[in-house]
Amino acid sequence: MNNKKSHEVQVMSELVDKIANYCGIKQVIDIGSGKGYLSSFLSMQYNLKVYGIDSSNINTNGAHERNRKLKKHWRAYQSRARANPKSQRLEKANDSPVQNEIKFKAVNERTLNNSCLQSQDQRTTQDLVPSCVFTEVTTSETSKQTEIDLVAQAQCNESELSEEALAILNVLPADAVEIFSSSQCNSEELCEEEKAQRKMASIKAKASKSSESNLYFPLTSYITAETELGDIITDLEDCIMVGLHTCGDLAANTLRIFTAKPEIKAVCSVGCCYHLLSEQYENQEDCTEEVWGFPMCQYLKDKGWCCGRNARMSACLALERIAVGQMLPTDSLFYRAVLQVIIEENYGVTKSERHVGKIFSKSSSFLDYVRKSLKKLELDDSKLPDSCIMDYYEKYKHRMNELEAFNMLKVVLAPCIEVLILLDRLCYLKEQCFY
Ligand SMILES: C[S@@+](CC[C@H](N)C(=O)[O-])C[C@H]1O[C@@H](n2cnc3c(N)ncnc32)[C@H](O)[C@@H]1O
Repeated sequence: MNNKKSHEVQVMSELVDKIANYCGIKQVIDIGSGKGYLSSFLSMQYNLKVYGIDSSNINTNGAHERNRKLKKHWRAYQSRARANPKSQRLEKANDSPVQNEIKFKAVNERTLNNSCLQSQDQRTTQDLVPSCVFTEVTTSETSKQTEIDLVAQAQCNESELSEEALAILNVLPADAVEIFSSSQCNSEELCEEEKAQRKMASIKAKASKSSESNLYFPLTSYITAETELGDIITDLEDCIMVGLHTCGDLAANTLRIFTAKPEIKAVCSVGCCYHLLSEQYENQEDCTEEVWGFPMCQYLKDKGWCCGRNARMSACLALERIAVGQMLPTDSLFYRAVLQVIIEENYGVTKSERHVGKIFSKSSSFLDYVRKSLKKLELDDSKLPDSCIMDYYEKYKHRMNELEAFNMLKVVLAPCIEVLILLDRLCYLKEQCFY
């Protein structure tokens, strides 16, 4: 799991847990659970009973396999944790939260003093450990145990980490059991030893707290607006529906299921891939569907509102990324634009079921890109000599700046389109009398 996903999972899990507590429910249905990162985190970190539903059997099988490994290593690790005399000694000696707080801080100071960080930029412990963590420490039983274990762990070095614990770390999503959320502490600033120690300590705390690891239940099913969750989950009870990156119509259908089923008490869905949304007022002649991804609300339906694929593609662009200096892939966009001209002028093709895909990164030059793309589109490239292809490149290369400006404009407008899609969903909920 990369840093972005790790951040998303941690932030969303915290929110879902709060909503679940607010509603007084324990069951969570993760729609489009994919590899199960969110589901695993919700079940293991927050002790929620999670069902992850994904249309892909490969994802479900992968999740079962990870669960199997987790269970095995978790049990083995629990036995070790219980038998660990160091930890038990410390448990008896440190039963005051205040003492624990001091110990905890001391451990961090000690480990940081030994760390590569300290020698590099002489950061203080306070730079890395926010004070709010201590507040939590004094109130949470789990955290208290964590501190005790941290003290014990500080006496070990990385090479002493048990094989079982490392095996658990390998099958868990990265950072899944870290004590601090990424918003509290910049994990990139921590050296590997520090990270491993924190993970180890948190695992120990969990292992001693629960008698059995809390694993989620992966299921395979293709979710539509008409899906009856009760047909998929036999012990369905009052629950919260969640979805991280519910692509295309999945987000819309999640809301439709939510409004139709009283046992679903709350919904928390983060949509994505707006280009995959089905639109009611686009290419109407092609479709016989009655349930559409956009628009959902009657207000926009009455106006026959249509975004179109290009606008929906733009809605996926992240202004925030560009703002922090991650530039648009101008070269690949330029290649693709010139390829479009070549295809139209030489093959008369304006629309195709086939996609060029990620050819750019596999191409050594523009010529190579065009040849590979034509093959992928099943167009006869032998009729185009190299010189002809390169003439197109020369003809348009001075317009690259225009393309970049155009794409920047798209990026700037992206939030407007995304907000339109999100407001449509909110409007739909309001029309269904959900406030
Ligand atoms: C963008 S991925 C997100 C996966 C996961 N939630 C995450 O954040 O890592 C979307 C997932 O939804 C699944 N999916 C898409 N449409 C679906 C549907 N109609 N029913 C069930 N799963 C679906 C896909 O197989 C894919 O795993």
